[in-house]
Amino acid sequence: MEGRSVKYSQTTITELMIPSYANFGGKIHGGILLSLMDKVAYACSSKHAGTYCVTVSVDGVDFLQPVEVGELVSLKASVNYVGNTSLVVGIKVIAENVKDATVKHTNTCYFTMVAKGDDNQLMKVPPLILETFDDMRRFISTIKRKKLKLESSDKMKGLKDDFVLDEDISLLEKERCEIKFTT
Ligand SMILES: CC(C)(COP(=O)(O)OP(=O)(O)OC[C@H]1O[C@@H](n2cnc3c(N)ncnc32)[C@H](O)[C@@H]1OP(=O)(O)O)[C@@H](O)C(=O)NCCC(=O)NCCS
Repeated sequence: MEGRSVKYSQTTITELMIPSYANFGGKIHGGILLSLMDKVAYACSSKHAGTYCVTVSVDGVDFLQPVEVGELVSLKASVNYVGNTSLVVGIKVIAENVKDATVKHTNTCYFTMVAKGDDNQLMKVPPLILETFDDMRRFISTIKRKKLKLESSDKMKGLKDDFVLDEDISLLEKERCEIKFTT
């Protein structure tokens, strides 16, 4: 199977934030941005895979700065990593105020997608051709991030089984909750 370069599938979507995208506080709904991220991840991964892709997992979505109505939001997506049937797409989200020419980097997140054929079966994706320092850095960082995620997910699985009320109740001491439960 022939490889494809990172730049072959690099995709940018730019969308104007219109008033109907706003929440009751006048800022853009997080869900609107999530939907745009999913779209650009789909476009980028499908282009690399040469078939349609579905979203498996989303990492690193934090809304640290609000996006305002009237701003132009651009989502820049690149394939950072490929496995056998999965791809990790890195997405950088920036919001631009066209009037005062300010640009803010609102977040960077990572979508894991899998490639599917017409029969809905998983499909192998082309290898990724790494041509630049950044291509190399992102591929290797993704390997490290996947490893960390696997380790933390194993620990999380253990949390449910390890729960012992008498021992864990001390964790509630500084929390803002009222206990109305008695054994
Ligand atoms: C993703 C899915 C195919 C995985 O099924 P599975 O039986 O676990 O298949 P596999 O174990 O063979 O995994 C397939 C690939 O997905 C990856 N994968 C599976 N679960 C994952 C997870 N939670 N996070 C990241 N990657 C994951 C595997 O690493 C594997 O990658 P590789 O082929 O590059 O090595 C299955 O869970 C699915 O179809 N989910 C629904 C996806 C969907 O429809 N999304 C749209 C939104 S609803």
